[in-house]
Amino acid sequence: MAIVCKTAGEIEKMRRSGHIVSQVLDDVRQMIAPGISTMDLERAAEKKIQELGAKPAFKGYYDYPCVLCTSINDEIVHGIPSEKRILKSGDIVSVDCGVVLDGFYGDAAITVAVGGAPQPELQKLLEVTEASLYKGIEAARIGNSVGDVGAAVQEVVEANGFSVVRDFVGHGIGTRLHEEPQVPNYGRRGQGARLREGMVLAIEPMVNCGGPESKVLGDKWTAVTADGSFSAHFEHCVAVTRSGPVILTQ
Ligand code: CO
Repeated sequence: MAIVCKTAGEIEKMRRSGHIVSQVLDDVRQMIAPGISTMDLERAAEKKIQELGAKPAFKGYYDYPCVLCTSINDEIVHGIPSEKRILKSGDIVSVDCGVVLDGFYGDAAITVAVGGAPQPELQKLLEVTEASLYKGIEAARIGNSVGDVGAAVQEVVEANGFSVVRDFVGHGIGTRLHEEPQVPNYGRRGQGARLREGMVLAIEPMVNCGGPESKVLGDKWTAVTADGSFSAHFEHCVAVTRSGPVILTQ
């Protein structure tokens, strides 16, 4: 499959699905507190998606069981919500949500500290990961390449002493959750596919305090850091337009 460019009308539809994702994540962010289970977040998100007239994108995708991925501490991505996973003060939790509305997908993620300000190292991890996402977004311009996006993310992360996960990458998005191109959070400037008007990219840095290596747990979904270090994840869908990058998931 080649990279699919979207028309202005299609990008407008993606802005609607993206807006729903951001509303769901706003609600979830408000709920995050010590004593709340990740299944509480899942239930609220599922209800909100339905109220807003969309369908969840993840539930049933390769048999994934939930509408959210909730990844705590050393979990990088794809943590499965559970009644048994109770958030406590000092944890960090990544929440990833995707929806489909009118045939077009939206996908975004945030990482939140549970119970107020975390340890300084974790606060820095959250700030650097989000800043790296915005540097990647800034590079999503016509004439740049996928490698420019990855290099922009990687530079911020490594300059701050953290590492970029290699085993999972961002992606094109549109009428499918995952389209071409792959969007690694590392790379070399000028390398990889050229960005053209109408491309929509899900840029999603996954950043570890320790080394970049990951492994997948026995549930076949939850990806954790190999060294047990904490990990953060932020994601936005971004349209490449003549007037520069446009964030669709806000
Ligand atoms: Co994604």
